[in-house]
Amino acid sequence: MILLAVESSCDETSVAVIKDGKLLSNKTATQIDIHEKYGGVVPEIAARKHLEYIIPVFEKAVEEACIDVHEIDVFAATYGPGLVGSLLVGLSFVKGLSISLNKPFIVVNHLLGHLYANFITFPDLKTPFIVLLVSGGHTELFLMENMDTIKKIGQTRDDAAGEAFDKIARMLELGYPGGPAIEKAAENGSDIHKFPRSLRKKNNIDFSFSGLKTSVLYFLRKNDRFKKEDIAASVQSAIVDSLVEKTFLAAEKFEVEKIVFAGGVAANKHLRNQAQIMANKKKKRVYFPPVELCTDNAGMIAYAAYKKIKRGSYSPLDINAVPSLTL
Ligand code: KG4
Ligand code: ZN
Repeated sequence: MILLAVESSCDETSVAVIKDGKLLSNKTATQIDIHEKYGGVVPEIAARKHLEYIIPVFEKAVEEACIDVHEIDVFAATYGPGLVGSLLVGLSFVKGLSISLNKPFIVVNHLLGHLYANFITFPDLKTPFIVLLVSGGHTELFLMENMDTIKKIGQTRDDAAGEAFDKIARMLELGYPGGPAIEKAAENGSDIHKFPRSLRKKNNIDFSFSGLKTSVLYFLRKNDRFKKEDIAASVQSAIVDSLVEKTFLAAEKFEVEKIVFAGGVAANKHLRNQAQIMANKKKKRVYFPPVELCTDNAGMIAYAAYKKIKRGSYSPLDINAVPSLTL
C-alpha cells in the first residue's frame, strides 16, 4: 500500500510517502525565517505560506519516492490540533487529491503522529509505556496501556515546555524557535543560576513553567551583568529537570518500564542525555525518535495513518479541521 500524507498544522509544510510502512520520502519546507522577525508564528502568514509551498513540496516528495501519483492508494492529512488556517490548507489539498484521483482519504491527530514517530524508529516497541509528549503547544504525560487505550495522567498547568523555551529565548533575544536557540547558546554557558523547578511535591505529575518564565524576567530586570549563555544553560536545566523528574515519577507510579518521548522538545540533547542517565539509574528504558522525526514532519503522520488504516476505516470527506483536538 502506498500512502501520501500532508502535515501543515503550524509553520512546517511537509509531505511524506510511505510504502507498506516504509518511508520513501519525507520533505519539509520550513517558514522559520519568515516568522523569526515576529518572534513567533503569525497564523495568517503561516496559512498563506502553506498555500505557496504545498505544491512544490508535494512534487518533491513524489519525485523522491520515485512513484507516479496514480500509484498512491490512500491520502492522509493532519486535521488537528493546530492553527485553523494552516490545517485547512493541508486538509483541503489532500481532499482534492482524494476526490480527483478517486482514492480514499484518512485524517490523523497531530499528537498521535508525534507518538508514532517512535514506531517508525522502533517497529518492535510494545505497550505498555509512558509517553512524554512535549512540543510548542503541549506538555502531557500519557499511559499507553495498549494500542487502543491511551490515558492522560499528567499535563502542564500553564505554558508548554516548548512555549517556555520560545518565550524565554525571546526575552534573551536569542531568536526563534527558542528551543534550538537556547540549546545552542547553552553549549557555551554554565548552569549557575538556580531558577525554580515547580510543583515538586512527591506524587504530583503535573508540570508548570510560568514561574520559571517570570523568574527569568525578574532576573533580567534586576541584573545587567550576566552571560546570556549561562542563563540559557540554567533555563535548559530547569526545564529538563522538571520534565525528567515528572516523567520518571509517572513511570514509577504506574509501574511501567518503558518511557517514550515525542514532540519538538524531545529533540533537545540535554533532555535526551539526562533521561538516559536517569533510565540507567532507575532501570527503565527510554525511547527517542531521531531529531528530524521529533519536530513537525509528515513522515510521522503517514505512519500513524498507515497503522490506523490497518486497524480500522477511512475518514468521511466532510470531516473538518479541529484546532483544539486532544489525544
Ligand atoms: O512538535 P513541534 O515541532 O511543533 C508543535 O507541534 O508544537 O515543536 C516545536 C517546539 C518549539 O517550541 C521549539 O522551540 C521546540 O519544539 N524545540 C526544541 C528543540 N527543537 C524544537 N526545544 C528544545 N530543544 C530543541 N532542540
Ligand atoms: Zn508538533
